[in-house]
Formats: sequence, structure tokens, C-alpha cells
Amino acid sequence: MGIDSSVTAFERTRRSLGGGVSSGLRATMRPVPLFVERSSGAYVWDLDGDRYVDYVMAWGPLVHGHSHPHILDAVTRVITSMQVVGMGHRLEYEAAEAVLASVPGAQRLVWTNTGTEAVQVALKFARAATGRHRVVKFAKAYHGWHDSVYASMAADDTGEAAVPAGRGQSPHAHADLIISRFNDTAAIAEILAAAEERQIAAVLIDPIMSNAGVTNPAPGFLETIRELCDKHGVVLIFDEVIAGFRIARGGAAEKFGVRPDLSVFGKAIAGGFTQSAVVGRADIIDLVDDGLTHAGTFNGNPVALAAVQAAMELSAEPGVFAKLDELGAAFETAITDVLTAAGAPAGLRRVGSLLQFAPHDQQTSLHGTDGLWAEITAGMVESGAVFMPSGKIFVSTAHTLADIEETAALLERVLQRVPARPA
Ligand SMILES: Cc1ncc(COP(=O)(O)O)c(C=O)c1O
Repeated sequence: MGIDSSVTAFERTRRSLGGGVSSGLRATMRPVPLFVERSSGAYVWDLDGDRYVDYVMAWGPLVHGHSHPHILDAVTRVITSMQVVGMGHRLEYEAAEAVLASVPGAQRLVWTNTGTEAVQVALKFARAATGRHRVVKFAKAYHGWHDSVYASMAADDTGEAAVPAGRGQSPHAHADLIISRFNDTAAIAEILAAAEERQIAAVLIDPIMSNAGVTNPAPGFLETIRELCDKHGVVLIFDEVIAGFRIARGGAAEKFGVRPDLSVFGKAIAGGFTQSAVVGRADIIDLVDDGLTHAGTFNGNPVALAAVQAAMELSAEPGVFAKLDELGAAFETAITDVLTAAGAPAGLRRVGSLLQFAPHDQQTSLHGTDGLWAEITAGMVESGAVFMPSGKIFVSTAHTLADIEETAALLERVLQRVPARPA
């Protein structure tokens, strides 16, 4: 066991592919991104054929594990009949009906390809519906890489002047953003009180801050935002690109009992294929018939929609979300025990099957949580388990208690080798 083949492959990749990774955030995987030859269930195998327990799960989509046979069957049936047609087809409505049947209060949807795209489409709907243009988001929340929302990624980046999150962004792109603080009811109330004067079209919120530490909304926080959005004519958008079809069949609306006007789904909606959707109120989404342009060559591609339909069937099976919660809880208990016994200054946070490694003395970061977590991920990948650089941990229905025990035993050994507080 060792990741020499990935080190060699990464060196070669860097000579043809900018940065050596296909998505910038993967560059912080330590010591190099793992190169995968095949994947099944809870495991990936590297170029040498070594097996790893996978907690990356493709950065979120694989709620039912890699290569789930139900999803593969559905896709295989369609792929030999058509690939992309640019016209109407049966799966457009069958998959849409399956999604609408899953999400409480959902009346209509439009298909998009990625989460980034779907967020932009949702914002366009909000602007068209309200005639206003500004958007409230929360410090540290990630809503895709588009300039208009990729800003203010540090906990203290609140206020009117959004902070660009990377190079190459237009200084004008964030002019519409107002940044609030998650779980700060007073702050959002103050902002929304002046919604009309401040031209606020939408509140964009990831209800569990999936990329910013993983946190449940405080009691009453989402309810208050819902009331204030109603009162001040603001569209409430849940970004459920990670949470959707992971924390509950019906997403945050089901789990927290608060209905947004629009939800953005991606990742798990298609069980590993490229698909996303904006889902919500018919009167807002029907604006596509009234001058709002929603276009895209690959929108509604039949292969991905076959996967959506199959993924919806899997998530409708009784007991799926209870199982995900139980496995998440088992992981939390087993790994917390190991961290505590080793005296590691860190714990875990969890919402269902999504967990976050949380150092006591340091903020987590979307771009890679340094210090002890970086040491752990490097040690674990050398030992046979692969984790994300940010410290997010995805558990799937394919993981077993035996996988979790194996991971805990590996972590125990890794923590004996790494200093609990690396310099
Ligand atoms: C909450 C959230 N919104 C939006 C996105 C963007 O989705 P995509 O990477 O499919 O463009 C992500 C991706 O991680 C996400 O976690």
C-alpha cells in the first residue's frame, strides 16, 4: 500500500492539465490527489489496484455509493438509445415528476447541469420575480465558483463590501451581494427590514452550511428568515446542492419544516451523473414563459435524467435516511473516541451523513483545513482511507459498520505517528 502511482500520475498530469486537477479545490488533497482506476460501493482502487475506504464520495453526489447497480441499469438502458437530443423526451417529465414528488411544496422545476449554474438560474428567477437585483448570502458559504457569489469566504467577511475569493474576479461582480452571518437572527432581520430600499431580491442560504463547518440552523433562524422574506417580498432560496437528497428525501424543507420559494439541487440528485435543478414555486419558475431566458445545450440530457429517476427511486426506499443517519452517528462515535483517546484537539460536527472535522483551535476552510487535518488525511491515504482536504466527510448507504471500524483502527495508528499538534 502506498500512493507512489498517484505521485507519478500527478507529475505527468501537471504537464498537460493546468494545475494537474480538473477542479481547483482538488489541488489541496495531501500529499497529492489520489488517482483512481475503479470504484464500487464505499471503495475506490488506485492505479496499483490498492483499495481505499472512500469518504470523498465524489465530493458529495454518491449518497448511495459508487456504481450503484440501480443507477447503472437505468443509465445503461438509455445510453444506447440516445445520448443528447436537444428536443423533448420522456425522461424530462418523468424525472421532473419524481423530483417534485420528493420535495415538499415543490410545484415546478427547470433542469440545469451543475450546482454553480443552478444557483445563477435561481438568482435570475428571484430578480425577475421581484424586480430587484441584490442578494443576501452568509459569510463563508460557498454557492459555486461563479464570480457573482464566490466571495466573502471567511467568517468575518460580513457587510456590504463583499470580499473576492480568488484572483481573476471582476471587482464589479459582487456589487449585488450583502453578506450576513449564519444563525445571527438579528443581523438578517436588520438587513431585510430595508429590503425594498436596498433592492434585495433574494436570500441565498445553505441551511446546514455544508462547506462552512456543517452546522444546524439555530431554532427559529430559518423560520424567521421565511417570515421576513414573506413580509418584505424577498425570494428565499435554499442552496441544497450538498444537503439535497442527503439529509432527507425532501431536503431541508422536510428536515427543518421550512419551505423556501426555490431550492437548488445538484450532486446527489443524479447519483453520480451531471445534473442539477432549480425547484420550487410554479408562479416563479413559470417566468421562463415570460421573458426570462433559461438555456443550455446539455440541459435535460437523457442519460443524466435516467440517473435522476433511479436516484429518486433509491431515496424513496423506506429506511434510507434513517440508515444514513445511523451510519453517520456510528462514524461520529467511533472517530470521536479515537480523537479523544489520542488527545487530539479536534472533534466532529454532523448533520446526518455529512460530517466535518472540527479543530478546536482553528477555523475550517473550503480550500483545505491545515494543521492536524492535513496530517491525518496524508497519513490515512497512505494507510487505505481517503478524505477531503476541507475536512468534510461523506458517508453513504454503501458504507458498513465494518468500514467505519476499519477507518477508526487506521486513524488510531495514524495518530500515533503524527504529532497531535503539528508545528
Ligand atoms: C452548497 C453548494 N452550492 C453550489 C455548489 C456548486 O456546485 P457544482 O460544483 O456542481 O458547480 C456546491 C459545490 O460543492 C456546493 O457545495
